[in-house]
Amino acid sequence: MKNPFVYGKEVSGDNFCNRKREKNELYRDIINGQNVIIFSQRRLGKTSLINEVFNKCRKKGIIPIYVDLYPMLSEEDFIRIYAKSIAEVVWGKIRKKLKEITQFFHKVRPTFTVNQTGEISYSFDVDRKAIIPSIEDVLDGVKRYADRKKKKVTVCFDEFQQIGQLKTDKLEKIMRSSFQKHNNIAYVFMGSKKHLITDMFNNPNRPFYRSTKSFPLEKINKCELSLFIQDRFQTTGKSISKDLIGEILDICELHPYYVQYFCHIIWERAIDRKIVKQEDLREGLKLLLKRESSTYEATWDLLTVKQKQVLVAISKVSPNDKLFSSEFLEKHNLGSASSVQRTVRSLINKDLIDKAGEMYMIIDIFFKKWILQL
Ligand SMILES: Nc1ncnc2c1ncn2[C@@H]1O[C@H](COP(=O)(O)OP(=O)(O)O)[C@@H](O)[C@H]1O
Ligand SMILES: [Mg+2]
Repeated sequence: MKNPFVYGKEVSGDNFCNRKREKNELYRDIINGQNVIIFSQRRLGKTSLINEVFNKCRKKGIIPIYVDLYPMLSEEDFIRIYAKSIAEVVWGKIRKKLKEITQFFHKVRPTFTVNQTGEISYSFDVDRKAIIPSIEDVLDGVKRYADRKKKKVTVCFDEFQQIGQLKTDKLEKIMRSSFQKHNNIAYVFMGSKKHLITDMFNNPNRPFYRSTKSFPLEKINKCELSLFIQDRFQTTGKSISKDLIGEILDICELHPYYVQYFCHIIWERAIDRKIVKQEDLREGLKLLLKRESSTYEATWDLLTVKQKQVLVAISKVSPNDKLFSSEFLEKHNLGSASSVQRTVRSLINKDLIDKAGEMYMIIDIFFKKWILQL
């Protein structure tokens, strides 16, 4: 039987737990032409959520375009990636309608290649001397497409922080002014690097300043996650007690990726049994940490001694501790408050820690567990 817990790629359908409120809200925003910015730490379920909402959009006659900007390193990449995402929607699976794409793009043209098995693939060439007109061409190509189809279109830029990391804000500026004219397109911006994405939208000097509704994605509700786990075990002929489910949720701090990952391991351990045991959790946890340790070691090895010291201190922080207080600094032998402040900033920039209220926390909860067992 197939393991019912899926992790490491976006999930949908039975593998997707609840998030009814978020799905409805996001769908309503799209209907209303409200642009939104969804941010959360990595693997909290942004891509899965938009996937679910886009499935609904498709059923309701709205055309969704999903653009993964993760591999983007330059303006040229942006043009290529975006043009290709649009082309995939316009052409669908059958790529017969060559003419159609030329109606929406005037400057950007596809190049086709045929591989040995006869499959046709295509990419978009970008004229280096005409980057700006090409950007405008793809951005407005979507508008021309929406107008022609007389349909609502929604575009999701996943990992949007990549745009903010370019050397200049040229692309951001062009995007902002172009999107203002696109009244029948709802844009969804998503980002995993909170400090980068919030800077793009909350910094008055940036083109996207206060231009969109903010939609922070939180963890999944405890009851829903608990039912999800129970159901996934049950439908594969296994039972797990409420106490053990509670323990899993505590260990994973309601983080959906880790819940799926941990349950996947637990399910494998209990493959020949009908009942999940406490021991499956204990051993499963060790296995998970072991599997992740090479990634954590790689991160750890690149840190300075000071950064490591601050991370160790933060991993042990209790709710009443104040990170920059003299007691705390002394207790953890951290040196001056100003140097710790600098280190904290560098760790935020590396996306290893985040500020929640007055507290700092290590973003990856299993990295924290790994640090604690050093
Ligand atoms: N609603 C959900 N229900 C169940 N599992 C989820 C859900 N959202 C996310 N996950 C788990 O988290 C993993 C990462 O989700 P993903 O959508 O790729 O997150 P992000 O885009 O925020 O990095 C998925 O592979 C899945 O295991
Ligand atoms: Mg994602």
